[in-house]
Amino acid sequence: MTVRQPVLLGQTMGGKVPPTAVVIFGASGDLTHRKILPAFYHLKKNGHLPEGMAFVGFARREQSEQQFREVLRQSLADFSHTQPIDNAVWAALEPHIYYQKGDLSNPDDYQGLAERLRSLPEANLFGQNHLFYLATAPNFFSVVAENLGKAGLHAGPGVNGSRRLIVEKPFGTDLPSARCLNETLHQVFPERCIFRIDHYLGKENVQNLLYFRFGNSIFEPLWDRRYIDHVQITVAETQTIGSRGGYYDMAGASRDMLQNHLMQLFTLIAMEPPASLEAEAIRDEKVKVLRSVPTPSSEEVQRNSVRAQYGPGILGAKTVRPYREEDRVSRRSLTETYVCLRLEIDNWRWSGVPFYLRTGKALSRQYTEICIVFNRPPCVLFAHSLKHIARNWLKIRIQPSEGIHLLFNTKVPAQPLIEEARMDFYYRQRDHYFPEAYERLLLDALIGEPTLFTRSDEVEQAWRIIDAVQGAWREEELDRLPLYAPGSMGPVEAEELLRREGRRWGDSPCEEEESVRE
Ligand code: BG6
Repeated sequence: MTVRQPVLLGQTMGGKVPPTAVVIFGASGDLTHRKILPAFYHLKKNGHLPEGMAFVGFARREQSEQQFREVLRQSLADFSHTQPIDNAVWAALEPHIYYQKGDLSNPDDYQGLAERLRSLPEANLFGQNHLFYLATAPNFFSVVAENLGKAGLHAGPGVNGSRRLIVEKPFGTDLPSARCLNETLHQVFPERCIFRIDHYLGKENVQNLLYFRFGNSIFEPLWDRRYIDHVQITVAETQTIGSRGGYYDMAGASRDMLQNHLMQLFTLIAMEPPASLEAEAIRDEKVKVLRSVPTPSSEEVQRNSVRAQYGPGILGAKTVRPYREEDRVSRRSLTETYVCLRLEIDNWRWSGVPFYLRTGKALSRQYTEICIVFNRPPCVLFAHSLKHIARNWLKIRIQPSEGIHLLFNTKVPAQPLIEEARMDFYYRQRDHYFPEAYERLLLDALIGEPTLFTRSDEVEQAWRIIDAVQGAWREEELDRLPLYAPGSMGPVEAEELLRREGRRWGDSPCEEEESVRE
């Protein structure tokens, strides 16, 4: 296969990383060890980081710089997606890693941080280029931003350098709280300096959605209500909530996954071609999709959504306890671990085409996939040989086995019959390095390239839809949720939601010989 000169999106549109001091708030947390540190290690390994970088971990724990570095080294060995760790790369990174003990709520500790930043040996190179990473619990996002402002570490006029803020998800818990958080952050960092992470946008095949749609002339003409019957978006996970009960029981699948990751896939698959590949052009089109989704009424939510919780059961070879018996989960919890939502987009391209979004924990399969199901061709020509002709579908597999698969009908040799055939493309057949999502996103944040981050109005629009769903659910006053068996693909109610419209889920992983059919 010939690979020509790549056309590039985001960071690669010409940016170079300037020397920067990266400050990680929540430096002793899981995210730092599992994702952030391995991402910086790989950026270093792949030659993306210049001289003059410094990494400062800010946390409350009492520990020396040496201890902090040793723990990080162990985390790399545990969590890096490439192994073994390249000792030369670590040796080049380690002396630039610092630890600053501090309390997130104490303004004085931010003065201490500001002084420390000024006194680091790399300071003459990074100057006032600071990237602050909020890897803390979400209730600290505003607190940290305000304290950075008080310590003079804000962005804006008078600052001779780039001051940027990376904010993890969840961004708010509903529309009012997201608005409030936006307002607080905007007092200290202008929108162009805020990078709201949704790590799905850093996944290779999510970025590929844009290339695939707009880099081919054969798909886009079919990409509308005349040719597409419906779209399915599935993020299925086999894992249970594990040790995250405290957070998850407050969030549930709709806040944890639907409001962000699924909405990102939804907007990328449905957006209009942007005027250019520049950040604002792309983000404008994504927001327009969300704006075109009417706020659902309570009746519509009740008809078009399913929520459920996993009960007891067997997953693989393991016995799974019911969600309500997980650690730090209320025994009477009504939090959903599965959600399915049918949305419509009220615009010229999509009017009347349902988008079914679903996600759940403790399911039988682990995969993320978008399935575009096309209209059925008229059967009259083949009426003598078969009752149904399979609909064509196009599956875009985000993970695992990133790829693109197309189903079409062909003739059975020597018989007047039709059978289904597939064209399969697997990304990993090509010999490319696959960066982890965080690598890509951190590189973009260092450069100041915002395309793959969520803009304030996008977050708020997504919350508008989810709030309506949550509001309608609250009105239902359930005393129990439907349960589904771990190791299944979710509750029967979600099957039913499609069946009553003459459709069914395409549950098949693409590697298997199954297909989406009625
Ligand atoms: C996180 C959610 O944002 O995404 C988790 O909080 C979920 O609940 C995870 O498991 C899924 O990410 P990925 O990259 O494994 O699909």
